[in-house]
Parts: sequence; structure tokens; C-alpha cells
Amino acid sequence: MDERWEALRQSCLACTGCALAQTRTNVVFGDGATDAEILLIGEGPGQSEDEQGVPFVGRAGQLLDDMLEIIGLDRSKVYIANIVKCRPPQNRDPLAVEQEACIGYLRRQTALLKPKIIVCLGRIAAKAIIREDFKITTEHGQWFTRGGVQMTAIYHPAALLRDESKRPETFVDLKSIQAKVRELCTHTNL
Ligand code: URA
Repeated sequence: MDERWEALRQSCLACTGCALAQTRTNVVFGDGATDAEILLIGEGPGQSEDEQGVPFVGRAGQLLDDMLEIIGLDRSKVYIANIVKCRPPQNRDPLAVEQEACIGYLRRQTALLKPKIIVCLGRIAAKAIIREDFKITTEHGQWFTRGGVQMTAIYHPAALLRDESKRPETFVDLKSIQAKVRELCTHTNL
């Protein structure tokens, strides 16, 4: 792996920048290809991720893998990271101070990756990355551009597990992501 990625990973694994460091089992740095053109951003690790040190490996993660498969993608063609790298106790939303302490890692991951497309998974990521007052119910699937990067947000897979009625809208959003990948990405063979 590239030295810069490894240095960043090591500093993240040793982080004690907020109180979540005291309750975590593992830091969940990220997963996927470090030359991916697509960056998926979740909210923060849950219990399975905390245990395994890998993002999106629990039930929501299995659904995420299925969602990627629908549009011809898998973890070898994307990079997956979270807003906070350590599990918030009881899976509560990460606090603003925790997000602020952690966001520098995601910024540096993004700077190394240089993605063409960023997909925010859920409200927390969309608010942190796209716009503080982002409304996931009305703005999911819309495209935004920042610094030459195309960004969108879709419902979090955990929200789709809780409320299946959101799935048809998410299918439309996934198709829109697939079209954008076909337009912009060269590594995916879609
Ligand atoms: N939910 C997230 O937002 N991220 C994970 O890594 C797992 C579940």
C-alpha cells in the first residue's frame, strides 16, 4: 500500500482525539481500493464494525453490498469510509465535537483518493459533507458539485432495513449513480 495511506492509517489507529477512543474496540479506518474513483461515506461504526475494524460488515453492510451489486459495483471498485472512525456507544448519532475531531482523517483520505464521485450514506454524512441543512427526505438522489467532485446522498442502508417503503426511491437513486459512474469513471468497466 502507498506509504501516505499507511501513514494516515497508522495515525488514525492511534488516535485519542475524542472520548470515543476510550470505548472503542477497533478504529474503523476504511475499506476498498485506494485508487477507487467512487467514495462512499457512512456515519460511524456499529457493533460489528467496532468488533472487526472494517466498515459496513453488519446487517446494513450486507444490504450495502447488495445495493452495490445492483449497479455492478463491489468493494474492489469503491472506497468506503465513515465520518467518525470509532463507534458511538449504543449507536447514537456522533456528536458535533466527535465529528469535528475526526473529520480531518476523512479529508486526508479524500485528498489521497481524489474521487470523482462521493456518495453520502444517510443524513449524518450528507449534513457533514454536502450541506449542514441537507434534508435527506427531499434531497436524496440530487447531484451537487464541489471542487470538481460530483456528490449525492442516498438513504442509509440501516434506514432501508427499518423502512422498506424507502427502497423504490433508493433504486432510482442507485440507477442515477450508475449513470454518473458510466459517464465519469474509467476503472469500473460499467
Ligand atoms: N453504519 C455506518 O454508517 N457505517 C458503518 O461502517 C456501519 C454502519
